[in-house]
Amino acid sequence: MKDIQHYLRPGTLHLGALPPLSLYVHLPWCLKKCPYCDFNSHEVSRSDTGSGGAVPEQRYLDALMADLEAALPLIWGRTIHSIFIGGGTPSLFSPEAIDRLLGDVRARLMLEPDCEITLEANPGTFEKDRFRAFRQAGVTRLSVGVQSFNDAHLKALGRVHDSAQAIAAVEEAALAFDTFNLDLMYALPGQEMDDLERDMVQALALMPPHLSVYHLTIEPNTYFAKFPPPIPDEDLAYAMLDRITEMTAGASMQRYEVSAYAKPGHRCRHNLNYWRFGDYLGIGAGAHSKISFAHRVMRQVRYREPRLYMDNAIAGQALAQDDEVARLDLPFEFMLNALRLREGFTLAQFTERTGLAPSAIEQPLQEAERKGLVERDLLRVRPTERGFDFLSDLQALFLAGSSAT
Ligand SMILES: C[S@@+](CC[C@H](N)C(=O)[O-])C[C@H]1O[C@@H](n2cnc3c(N)ncnc32)[C@H](O)[C@@H]1O
Ligand code: SF4
Repeated sequence: MKDIQHYLRPGTLHLGALPPLSLYVHLPWCLKKCPYCDFNSHEVSRSDTGSGGAVPEQRYLDALMADLEAALPLIWGRTIHSIFIGGGTPSLFSPEAIDRLLGDVRARLMLEPDCEITLEANPGTFEKDRFRAFRQAGVTRLSVGVQSFNDAHLKALGRVHDSAQAIAAVEEAALAFDTFNLDLMYALPGQEMDDLERDMVQALALMPPHLSVYHLTIEPNTYFAKFPPPIPDEDLAYAMLDRITEMTAGASMQRYEVSAYAKPGHRCRHNLNYWRFGDYLGIGAGAHSKISFAHRVMRQVRYREPRLYMDNAIAGQALAQDDEVARLDLPFEFMLNALRLREGFTLAQFTERTGLAPSAIEQPLQEAERKGLVERDLLRVRPTERGFDFLSDLQALFLAGSSAT
């Protein structure tokens, strides 16, 4: 980490106020690597954990705290508005370890009184039995990775749980937590429209306050990229998304972000902060951070491989990358997030978060409006339905050097 003076030195940007700050904690192990997954997740039994194939909880927690302590000067005096413990499979960590983690975080950071604390959980039986203890440890919101309720599709996705376990886990989450999320994926290998409808009927019957539904993406460097399964064509995938939006609306859930649906009062504060281009400190293997200062916005990445991360973090050197976001890249970075939201953004927010004048985006905004991709009034810019459907084209208008900028 560079000296704090380095981040505070004068520059050409002028941020009037610093945005809300969240904390992300990455726990990088899973029981088994899913063939579609390109997250920084490692099979416990395979990885060189130095603890005989078990999650090295204590050493990893030591590394996380060394990492956090080294980062404290960058966020001095700022309070934390949400925490997200993601992975990997965080529910592989014992409730005692999560209790220690949150206790250690509270000892070093000021949390807002209503701080949302989410933990990602897989729906296996042994994880489910821990949900109440996670709540006791201070977790306020659970995010359960169900993916599908169809056993054949779960098998095709290489998941270690079946549909009955998924239902039992979601029922337990509903009992143990005031709010929770359920992750589903669609456009799965061999999936037809009625399979999708059955998945949605089952998901909605469990009455989740929040639902995230992702199009299965074949990511480079995954098993599925090497051995591609047969997946629904684009037209069917679009039709599925329309059906998902219809069915969630029928259950009084609002599509407030491209992939996120929520009942009133249950939007995810942590993710909203990303989408509103807020700040986040990410600790843990491969975690990303975005931290603003009066004259610059920094992005940092921690070492990705868990063993390397632990060794380096404990030695006080968790950072693999630490770069300033170039002034010219800020409009696109802002739009990558803000245009995912149904509510869009205000020009005042754009200026507050990027330190740039609204004139920096006037030209691409006019082009987006002309193409019917955004609508605006005096205050707000919002993506239209068409803008949501062609989101990457819309975002690309704000790339530095694109014809409109
Ligand atoms: C880090 S994982 C969540 C937690 C947990 N490990 C699990 O898999 O249940 C976050 C979510 O991203 C989604 N996801 C992961 N890989 C994906 C892919 N290739 N395409 C679409 N969604 C994906 C899944 O819905 C998954 O639940
Ligand atoms: S369990 Fe989740 S994080 Fe782990 S490999 Fe599967 S999708 Fe990735």
